[in-house]
Amino acid sequence: MIKRLWANRSKAKTSLPQSEGIPPENVPQHVAIIMDGNGRWAKRRGLPRMAGHHSGMKTVKRITIEANRLGVKYLTLYAFSTENWKRPKAEVDFLMKLPQQFLEIELDDLIANNVQVKMMGHREDLPSHTLSAVEEAITKTAGNTGLVLNFALNYGSRKEMLEAVQGIAADIKDGRLDPEDIDDQEMARRLLSKDLPDPDLLIRTSGELRLSNFMLWQLAYSELWFTDVYWPEFTEKHFNEAIQEYGRRARRYGGV
Ligand code: IPE
Ligand code: IPE
Ligand code: MG
Repeated sequence: MIKRLWANRSKAKTSLPQSEGIPPENVPQHVAIIMDGNGRWAKRRGLPRMAGHHSGMKTVKRITIEANRLGVKYLTLYAFSTENWKRPKAEVDFLMKLPQQFLEIELDDLIANNVQVKMMGHREDLPSHTLSAVEEAITKTAGNTGLVLNFALNYGSRKEMLEAVQGIAADIKDGRLDPEDIDDQEMARRLLSKDLPDPDLLIRTSGELRLSNFMLWQLAYSELWFTDVYWPEFTEKHFNEAIQEYGRRARRYGGV
């Protein structure tokens, strides 16, 4: 039987005094996370990589609840990249079943927590069972007004930007757009992230110091926070550390 993983919500609340010192104005509006290290976490324990992905799913639940509790408005989670299709078929198949599994267990709790599910990625290449599970969650949570939980699923920043440029080129060719009118807003509204503000804070777990084709346009002025901790062992405490550090940063956007 699958254990319900959000059962100890209220308990978690009382055991997290470290977040109480974060003034609301220091809480980022949009946090994006590159959830990395599932495979190495499993390997270190002598387990198959799939066990790491399964365990990482539990972290998704915990961090979603914590982000919502702290007043983060958008949480974007990099779940599968356009490059992850290179992995062995068995692993890809497993990863494509995870959204379904996650939502089957947790959709009711997401709704109860007023969470709104969204997806950012290239839908056309996803298996229909994966897409339909996500679409169902999007539809059922569309009226919610709490945290936006945005899954980057089959997402690739270069593909996203190339498609935007193709759209721009087609509109110019057909006379619908003047090259002089191409500005930041014109580009941004053609990206998969068009309904979201740029991330304020990017977190990457597992010690890798790279972006791996994630939100290259949108992260132009985001604060970056890296940890050696693998995603399955990433806790509310680490998340609070990242938010606290964010609150100490001075964002200058090129000014003084
Ligand atoms: C992140 O963990 C999950 C996905 C990319 C889907 P990894 O599977 O990349 O784990 P490592 O990096 O091999 O440890
Ligand atoms: C980035 O992790 C993609 C996701 C977290 C979904 P990867 O594990 O695929 O990145 P690389 O290969 O180490 O750059
Ligand atoms: Mg990895």
